[in-house]
Order: sequence, then C-alpha cells, then structure tokens
Amino acid sequence: MSLGTALTGAGKARPITGHTGVVGIIGDPVEHSLSPAMQNAAFQAARLDMVYVPFRVRRDELRRAVESLRALGILGVNVTVPHKQAVLPLLDSVSSEAKKLGAVNTIVVEGRKLVGHNTDARGFRASLKAARVRLDGKRALVIGAGGAARAIVSALLEARCARIWVVNRTPANARRLVHGFRSARSRLDTLPWNALEDASTVAAADLIVNCTSVGLHGEALELSYGATHARCVFADLVYGRTRTPFVARAQRLGRRTIDGTGMLIHQGALAFSLWTGRRAPLDTMRKALQAALIRKAGR
Ligand code: ATR
Repeated sequence: MSLGTALTGAGKARPITGHTGVVGIIGDPVEHSLSPAMQNAAFQAARLDMVYVPFRVRRDELRRAVESLRALGILGVNVTVPHKQAVLPLLDSVSSEAKKLGAVNTIVVEGRKLVGHNTDARGFRASLKAARVRLDGKRALVIGAGGAARAIVSALLEARCARIWVVNRTPANARRLVHGFRSARSRLDTLPWNALEDASTVAAADLIVNCTSVGLHGEALELSYGATHARCVFADLVYGRTRTPFVARAQRLGRRTIDGTGMLIHQGALAFSLWTGRRAPLDTMRKALQAALIRKAGR
C-alpha cells in the first residue's frame, strides 16, 4: 500500500485526504482481524470517504488510546480482546445492551462524547433471522460460558427462547454466566459437560450454538450429533477458510447450519450503521470476508 492510499475490498486504491473519516479496531492482537477487509470494502461500496485501520493497543495503554480517539478526531472504533470489559469505565456513556453484557465492542465518538455499544447479541440474532431461523418458544443448547456465550444467551432470551441450557467444560463458569441473568432463571439453566453426549438432552434442542473456541484449529466438538432432531439448527461462532467439524458433521446429517461468519458480518454491519447512519452493504461485506479468509489461509 503506498502512502496516502487505502486498498479497498475491490483492490482499487483510493486517496486518503484530510477529509477522510477514520474508524478502526483496538485490541491486542489485531493483525488477524478480518474487520478491516470487511469494513473498507463496505465504505467503498457505499461511496463513503472513510477508512478502517487496525490499532494494536496494549493493556497498559488502553486509557491513553481511548482518550486519544477524541484528540485525533477518530469517528469510532471496534473493541476486541482483551479490552471489551476494561474499556467500559473509560467511556462517557454505555448503551443498555453493553451494560447488560458488561462488554463494549463498538465505540462511537459523538462530538466530544465516547459512547459504548455492543452489537454482538443483535448481530447473532440478525444472522439467525437472515437464515430464517425462528427462536420464540424454542429450546437452545449453548456450549461455552465466556464473553461470546453471554452475548448469545442474551440474544436468545431477547428472542423469547422457551428454554436455554448452558454447558461448559468448567461448570463454575457456566453457573456464573447463568447467575448473571437472574431474572430469567425460569428459562435458563446449566447442564454438565457430559450432557453433550447424552442422546435425550441433545434430542430436546432446537438450536445448538458452539460458543467455545473448539474448531478454530480443526478440532471436533464431541456431541451426540446423530441424536438431534431433523429440524435442529447448528450455529457456530468459530469461522475459518473451511467448514469447522461442528458444521461439517451437522451438514452430513442434513441439519441446517450457520457458520461463524454470519455473526461476524452482522455485528460488523451494525457497527457500520452506528458510525455512518447508513444500512450496511451485507453482500459486499460477505464477499470481502470470504476473500480475506482465502488470503489468510494462503499465508
Ligand atoms: P470468548 O470471549 O470468545 O467467549 P472466552 O471468554 O475465553 O472467549 O471463552 C472461551 C470459552 O471456550 C469458554 O467457555 C471455555 O471453557 P472454560 O470456561 O472451561 O475455559 C471454552 N473452551 C476453550 N477451549 C476449550 C476446549 N478445548 N474444550 C471445551 N471448551 C473450551
């Protein structure tokens, strides 16, 4: 990339000038992030003079980095690991969604104010809606109990799932997650890790969501796949160049699946709208993401 230009998703260079609006992502690491490819392609498609830049920010530099957003006239940033929780007290206000999740994944600089949002839960719901998956009255099995699982449980409760079971390798983490949604206790419970191989438990699920990192390096998640009912939907938050074993095994049984790029695109699309006030070009973002995944796999 030459000085003063940005490579867009389409591969064409456009000039960066004093008028160009700057957004980006803060995290550590950020080199692996696919958001720059997705968002820069979206700005290009929407003919917006904006650029998305990854900023590696160490933990001990977070406060100064966040304060500098205002000073540098940056319009907003995504926030990723390890800053999603730590950034909350550094902001002027935080949306009710982000407060509920205790995590911010998008900051919008509104004049002098830094406003925190979280688009993960709504992004997940949007990805299910796009795949025409109905959730009201349904029973869901959530695997994992980290930050991603918390966003998914919140999304499923909002979408009026009748029953949600949280299963995690470390049971105490699952209990802590469920405890955080006290008002929903009648619909939410934990199950032991070995419930994943219990046919009657698995057969009761209408939706199974993998919120663990299992699959990132091609590992399989041990689960009684064959015991699921024919209309059970499998959603994975893990994504890569090729299908994860979780998605592949479900597909071999003829089950409907949603891979991890679904939530990634939709949470990014919501951030795009927060920064620009426009609807995001979803197809462009999807294509840019696929291309970036191929490039990454080739490296
Ligand atoms: P995220 O923010 O993406 O949710 P996280 O908070 O680190 O990341 O959570 C990772 C989740 O993956 C946890 O539920 C973790 O289980 P533990 O609570 O037992 O650590 C789960 N996980 C990671 N590696 C796993 C593995 N090999 N088998 C099963 N679960 C695993």
